[in-house]
Amino acid sequence: MAESSPDPRRPRRWWRSPATRVLAGVTTLAATAAVLVAAPGADAAASTLGAAAAQSGRYFGTAIAAGRLGDSAYTTIAAREFNMVTPENEMKPDATEPNQNQFNFSAGDQVYNWAISHGSRVRGHTLAWHGQQPGWMQSMSGSALRSAMINHIQKVMAHYQGKLAYWDVVNEAYNEDGSRRQSNLQGTGNDWIEVAFKTARAADPSVKLCYNDYNIDNWNYAKTQGVYRMVQDFKSRGVPIDCVGLQAHFTGGSSVPSSLQTTISSFAALGVDVALTEVDVTNANTSQYSALTQACMNVARCVGITVWGVRDSDSWRSSESPLLFDGSGNKKAAYSSVLNALNAASPTTSTTPTGPTTPTTPTTPTTPTTPTTTPTTPGGGSCSATLSAGQSWGDRYNLNVSVSGSSSWTVTMNVPSPERISTTWNINATWPSSQVLIATPNGSGNNWGVTIMTNGNWTWPSVSCSSS
Ligand code: XIL
Repeated sequence: MAESSPDPRRPRRWWRSPATRVLAGVTTLAATAAVLVAAPGADAAASTLGAAAAQSGRYFGTAIAAGRLGDSAYTTIAAREFNMVTPENEMKPDATEPNQNQFNFSAGDQVYNWAISHGSRVRGHTLAWHGQQPGWMQSMSGSALRSAMINHIQKVMAHYQGKLAYWDVVNEAYNEDGSRRQSNLQGTGNDWIEVAFKTARAADPSVKLCYNDYNIDNWNYAKTQGVYRMVQDFKSRGVPIDCVGLQAHFTGGSSVPSSLQTTISSFAALGVDVALTEVDVTNANTSQYSALTQACMNVARCVGITVWGVRDSDSWRSSESPLLFDGSGNKKAAYSSVLNALNAASPTTSTTPTGPTTPTTPTTPTTPTTPTTTPTTPGGGSCSATLSAGQSWGDRYNLNVSVSGSSSWTVTMNVPSPERISTTWNINATWPSSQVLIATPNGSGNNWGVTIMTNGNWTWPSVSCSSS
């Protein structure tokens, strides 16, 4: 259960910017009308997990397995519901470096490309871990292993340089009693974790660097305290670390602790992003799912939630039915409890990016580009698309789009490079290229939106609307 609850039903309209521009209008009259009715229904509850999370500037993700990308029932749900993807196994050391210094990114790239082509961002998982090491690494120790770890981090991060939102640099390095886990990596010296993070920062300064672990959800647990002290120490000594991932596998008798929100806010207070990274709950207990979602929503710096798989049948613990969709792809009761908690969340406040990412990012979009001119559709229909500013953060902003004039519209959005759309809501989206989005209605009405990663450029996209 969350320990405190800031007015979760606060109307969302208060934080929306009044800025509204018509970027495509059929006539002056239509354009004026569009300004007057900007973003009607913008406060409607979102109908997918990703869209609901985006309203408060967060993501909702899932683990994706490359081997399931041929299953259209799986990809349909995954594309519709989630806007962050973690490769379930494809970026682990045994997958990416099967032989020493011979790298294989084919499965990792498959998951990455699928995610990006569906408007999702990607969490890299994971670089240095005692588990899922290739055979050659398992039998290594000492300075040879230390060098191999550094080389692994450098080469894998170079391949994904500039492409990922987060990297789990180190996974599961602590014992339950709060001491360091014995492993071949630990055997190379107690400084192996900070060496991994420093190597990672140098290899790709654009990505946020995370420590990820399980059983660090309960604030009153020795392991949580051990990890907390490490992050506190890293922060005090300037060792680069940007985020902490709580795996949140609430299975096999371990349930959501009442102190979860305290744990999240305590890590956040150290100056790191916090995320729930691998959520699954025995039998998808509804109150536990809503409690863990609420705990995240109650902490501004809890940036998102990832569930560890799409359907129960995809789960590494499928016998416990721990996910939000059943084996047939139906939404379970826990799905609604999560969606409602996401929809009720207040927006997060802006945060300054940590680490030497883009140094001089402005916090608000600059003046939008000149409106494009408007198409009158040969088929006789006409429509206009109105953009209005949503919330913005240090690295991205939301744009609300309202279409008027027709209910069977197609909006084309051109995003100036290096900006990239990371999330959409309330549309069917297709992507002729990474800079072009084609939006058509998905039954959610005429108000929709996008989250745009600026990558340093805050220019609004151009849009044009056509109807049939
Ligand atoms: C699991 C995968 O889901 C399985 O497919 C694989 O066989 C084993 O690893 N903690 C982690 C994840 O950080 O990488 C693990 O994923 C689950 C526990």
